[in-house]
Amino acid sequence: MLIDARDPKDGSAVAQAATALAAGELVGLPTETVYGLGARADDDDAVAKIFAAKGRPADHPLIVHVADVGSAQVFAADWPALAQRLAARFWPGPLTLIVPRAPGIGAAAAGGQHSIGLRCPSHPVAQALLREAKARGVPGIAAPSANRFGRISPTRAAHVVEEFGDALLVLDGGDCDVGIESSIVDCSRGHPVLLRPGVLTRQQLEAAAGEPLADPDADAPRASGTLEAHYAPRARLRLMAGPMLNTALQMLGGSTLKLAVYSRTVPAQAARGLVHRSMPAQPAQAAHELFSALRELDAEGVHLIWVEEPPAGPEWDGVRDRLQRAAAA
Ligand code: TXA
Ligand code: MG
Repeated sequence: MLIDARDPKDGSAVAQAATALAAGELVGLPTETVYGLGARADDDDAVAKIFAAKGRPADHPLIVHVADVGSAQVFAADWPALAQRLAARFWPGPLTLIVPRAPGIGAAAAGGQHSIGLRCPSHPVAQALLREAKARGVPGIAAPSANRFGRISPTRAAHVVEEFGDALLVLDGGDCDVGIESSIVDCSRGHPVLLRPGVLTRQQLEAAAGEPLADPDADAPRASGTLEAHYAPRARLRLMAGPMLNTALQMLGGSTLKLAVYSRTVPAQAARGLVHRSMPAQPAQAAHELFSALRELDAEGVHLIWVEEPPAGPEWDGVRDRLQRAAAA
């Protein structure tokens, strides 16, 4: 069931969702990055419903959303100075921090790990929901992206209904501004590790951290958003440099394959039955519409989606990462 939560003067939708969360039920909620499938993070039975609904393996940890740093500390055994520097600069916002987990809380949300991922989202509906839930005794909301395991993350309330059907209570907070998931920085190992790129660039994160960010090594914690194959449309997605894409299109000639192209430049040779959609030239705009564009192209029933590689440069890291994973599926 979709309920409109966009009117800040009408708190009834948020109150209804907060009550459902407090009772251990699942709720679809907007954040500034993507929509989440939420459950109260301090209730392992409620969190188990998320894993069941998504078809996600129970050892893949979820992100716990909190109203503020104080609530984050409820879930943390230790709040490193590094985490504090990053939170002070980027919370509320599209950044998840991994810190040591407080024993006795959030075990299911953390997928059994001794660390936990925490994020304070900036979306006003998420903020209102976190506050209302807290008032009902809920210290945080565990919420992975509200899609079935391995599929494209939702950036509109209607996408969540596409994934889980109408029985789920979904707060409609409009289209997500950011459009790709939060950056994840592991602060639990003494030095910062960038586990997943987002729209915050490495440079911005390093400036706030005051030290360079390492890349994940073999014993970094598992992150399902960091499994190679992810964000997959039904159609096969291929990522190609612009000139290669044009050559491939010419070679396709009069073939009857149904093909979609997502590129910054209009393909020189429009093959028969080709669906083209323009990729924005600005990285923030490209991130904003990436997942809805892939969903829409997929809905055209094409066999193939050919995507032009984004330009080089760190501001494209988040978009490039999601496209590479979609192509690996
Ligand atoms: O923007 C986002 O982060 C969205 C919105 C809903 O907040 N959430 C999201 O959740 O992307 P999900 O579950 O799809 O991705 C969570 C990522 C996974 O890759 C997970 O493995 C990682 O966070 N993660 C969570 N806790 C972790 C931990 N303790 N150690 C390592 N990775 C962790
Ligand atoms: Mg996800």
